[in-house]
Amino acid sequence: MDKPIGIIDSGYGGLTVATEMMRQLPKESIYYVGDSKRCPYGPRTVEEVRRFTWEMINHLLEYEVKMLVIACNTATAVVLQEAREKLAIPVVGVIQPGAISAMKVTNNQHIAVIGTSGTIKSNAYPYALEAISENVKVESLACPLFVPLVEQGIVAGEEAEGIVEESLAPIKDGQFDTLILGCTHYPLLKPLIEAYLPSHVNVISSGEETAREVSSVLFHQSLNRKAAEAPTHQFFTTGAAKPFEEFARKRLSLFPAKVESITFEHRLKIER
Ligand code: DGL
Repeated sequence: MDKPIGIIDSGYGGLTVATEMMRQLPKESIYYVGDSKRCPYGPRTVEEVRRFTWEMINHLLEYEVKMLVIACNTATAVVLQEAREKLAIPVVGVIQPGAISAMKVTNNQHIAVIGTSGTIKSNAYPYALEAISENVKVESLACPLFVPLVEQGIVAGEEAEGIVEESLAPIKDGQFDTLILGCTHYPLLKPLIEAYLPSHVNVISSGEETAREVSSVLFHQSLNRKAAEAPTHQFFTTGAAKPFEEFARKRLSLFPAKVESITFEHRLKIER
């Protein structure tokens, strides 16, 4: 099926998942929406996250996406179940893939999770990990300063280092051997996070496993794109197009040919 795959995030973070999907599924067209104008979602109420997420989903449904990837942990925690029930297309989130990746590499079944306040409060990671193993020990920490830092394009240097060190200090001496980056913005800070934590700690992003799950759903449901022409990628942002393009190019070596700045207000809403 030649329709695009839709990806949503509160801003730039989902690009870490989109990059991995483009690597693992180079024939697929990707339509991405990032809500940078209203980012961060982490400190928002569940109702706000739910409403904003449906606005992004509705936008993508106008392009008849064949599948939806909620490349935002905060939105996955709130909307995944509901989106699966209400949409006629497959919906993939990032929390279960993150939990699976961590369980694959942990030796002592002691896992730490960092994420936005919303994700940590939801307990979605402990639930996902305990669904895999009863013996797992999970410690969670909210890092509310990371997303605003990344959205400003600050992913290296003294300021970023200072914030990473201060935020992770409460868990630095923990016994965990695996840390889940439970927010899709955090892989952009991975070098700083790895440098601060003891070297034996595995630092896990969910992008790779999410792309694997997308790939498996596509092939099982015969939804994979068969056209011979190159895929088209389209990026929408509620922020300005230029910084989006620069961020994608500089930080992820992505060269988005089409970036469109959008607002949701003028659109005909499909009430959910
Ligand atoms: N990338 C989003 C996530 O994975 C960030 C949420 C936010 O905007 O706070 O949770």
